[in-house]
Amino acid sequence: MPLIRSVSKAARQLLLTPACGCEPLSRSVRNISALSRQVTSSDASFHSISFSETDHPKVLITGGLGQLGVGLATLLRKKFGNKNVILSDIRMPPSHVSRSGPFIYADILDYKNLREIVVNNRITWLVHYSALLSAVGEANVTLARDVNITGLHNILDICAQHGVRLFVPSTIGAFGPTSPRNPTPDLCIQRPRTIYGVSKVHAELMGEYYHHKYGLDFRCLRYPGIISADSQPGGGTTDYAVQIFHDAVKMGKFVCNLKADTRLPMMFIDDCLRATLEVLEAPAETLSMRTYNINAMSFTPEELVQEVQKQLPDLRVIYDVDPIRQAIADSWPMNFDDSNARKDWGWKHDYDLPELIQTMFSIISPDSRLTHAN
Ligand SMILES: NC(=O)c1ccc[n+]([C@@H]2O[C@H](COP(=O)([O-])OP(=O)(O)OC[C@H]3O[C@@H](n4cnc5c(N)ncnc54)[C@H](O)[C@@H]3O)[C@@H](O)[C@H]2O)c1
Repeated sequence: MPLIRSVSKAARQLLLTPACGCEPLSRSVRNISALSRQVTSSDASFHSISFSETDHPKVLITGGLGQLGVGLATLLRKKFGNKNVILSDIRMPPSHVSRSGPFIYADILDYKNLREIVVNNRITWLVHYSALLSAVGEANVTLARDVNITGLHNILDICAQHGVRLFVPSTIGAFGPTSPRNPTPDLCIQRPRTIYGVSKVHAELMGEYYHHKYGLDFRCLRYPGIISADSQPGGGTTDYAVQIFHDAVKMGKFVCNLKADTRLPMMFIDDCLRATLEVLEAPAETLSMRTYNINAMSFTPEELVQEVQKQLPDLRVIYDVDPIRQAIADSWPMNFDDSNARKDWGWKHDYDLPELIQTMFSIISPDSRLTHAN
């Protein structure tokens, strides 16, 4: 026993006094038995990489083949250069994604592989997009718990150990039926009723804890439902607001799985991705919190249908409510108070509902309905 105790003490000592003399390395982020396998003294010199060493951050995006990742990679690559932004996922990338820049296989449940990727590529920013979303998560709680909670733990430890700035998106789903819903402020009671929401509250709290305990540069935005034209949503409760555009154009008919008067906060993807870049770039001293609400607009299916019908008057809508999604939506915010983001780092959305409609149709093009019908 004394031998084990002295080995543990030595290992702890090594972690607390990195060779670079910089901030204490990870301050014992993993337990000692795991550390002896996973942390070596070379981490100390890696940790000493300062941001100024490179002109641009070196970014890794996990879960990058979902609704948001490819768009974010495109935005970041324009700013930081193609080779400085690596997309990763566990799925096969479509060929246009492979051609557009670096892609790597990364399962966030594989701690060692993830660590190798971060170390070998000298990653300085990590955008953690891998997740199972609300509706998919409720259908597979065990997997959602693994990916959204165990996977997050891997990400937190690796980022804390290697001085990586970490962005994790949270969601309106991190609130629950006992939260104030109209509007929902940044700080209020959070008792979500989905595994997705529970895992996101966990992420918010763990990130803030690692920030205070280990100095992790953790940044988090609670996204509303995100609406995009050229990427498919991944199984969330707000997916209807994307699907309606495609179905309206292709079939002239839309089956809505939420009640007509279900009000939820929403945002166009360009605003969401720009907010992500802006909060990642925000000087540390401007951030009074680690987790911010962001918002753009808030509407019901009925209001969205009315706007879409201005472009496609023949659109027929049937409400066939999915009780699981409806119960989730009924527990979520109706309006999001994002005044802290606006005050602290100057958040400002560009797209309201009319701009959203115009932009979606300019991408999806109502004319394609005629093509389809013919
Ligand atoms: N899209 C929205 O409306 C919205 C709203 C709020 C928050 N968010 C958050 O933004 C992030 C990205 O959302 P999205 O819509 O692109 O999600 P998505 O469901 O479309 O994509 C998630 C990706 O994670 C990947 N993934 C699953 N298991 C993995 C694993 N073990 N290792 C690595 N990757 C794995 C999937 O293959 C998928 O490509 C998520 O964290 C989500 O919670 C999204």
